[in-house]
Amino acid sequence: MAILLVSGSPRPEGLTIHAVRAVERQLAAAGLATDVLDLAQVDLPTYRGEPVPELGLEWRRRVQECDALVLASPEYHGGMSGAIKTFLDHLTFDEIRDRAVAFIGVASGPHGGTRPILQLQDVVTVLWGRPIGPALAVSGVKEAFDEDGGFRDEQLQRLLPLFVARMQAAVGGSP
Ligand SMILES: Cc1cc2nc3c(=O)[nH]c(=O)nc-3n(C[C@H](O)[C@H](O)[C@H](O)COP(=O)(O)O)c2cc1C
Repeated sequence: MAILLVSGSPRPEGLTIHAVRAVERQLAAAGLATDVLDLAQVDLPTYRGEPVPELGLEWRRRVQECDALVLASPEYHGGMSGAIKTFLDHLTFDEIRDRAVAFIGVASGPHGGTRPILQLQDVVTVLWGRPIGPALAVSGVKEAFDEDGGFRDEQLQRLLPLFVARMQAAVGGSP
C-alpha cells in the first residue's frame, strides 16, 4: 500500500518539496509506505509524443505501481507548474483511471495554492481519476514551516489528520 507523492517544482531550491516532506512524514507516521518523486531532481523532458523517453516510461511504472497518488504543485502565474503538467502529459488514462489522487498547492502569496489544486483536479477528472480531499493549500510558504518542518498554519494542522485518514481509506488501510 504505497503512496507516491510527486513534487512539481522544477526549482532545486524550491519550497514545494518541503510541503511534500511535511505531508509524507505524517503519512509514514500513520504506517503508510511512501515514495517521493521530486521533479526538481530530474532532467525534465519536453513532451514530444512517441517514442516516450525512458523517464516517461519510468513515471508510468511508478504511478501504475502506487496505490494512491499525491500531486503537489507550486503556484506559478496563477496555475500549476509546467513541470507537473509535463509529468502528467507523459502519463496515459491507464495510470490515472480509478486511482485515488490527492492534492497540495504551494504559493508564496498570502491566498495562493488553490488555483494549481483546481487545475490538477480538472486534469485528474478528465483522466477518470478519483480526486480525494481535503486538498492542502499552503499559502505564504516562506513562513509556512516551523523549526521541525511541520506546518505552522492551524487550519493545515487540522486538515492534515483528515488528509492522512482519507489516504489510508483510499489505499484500503484502517484509519
Ligand atoms: C514563474 C513563477 C511564477 C510564480 N507565480 C506565483 C503566483 O502566481 N502566485 C504566488 O502566490 N506565487 C507565485 N510564485 C511564487 C511561488 O509560489 C513560490 O516560489 C513558492 O515557493 C512555490 O514554488 P517553488 O516550489 O518553486 O518554490 C511564482 C514563482 C515562479 C518561479
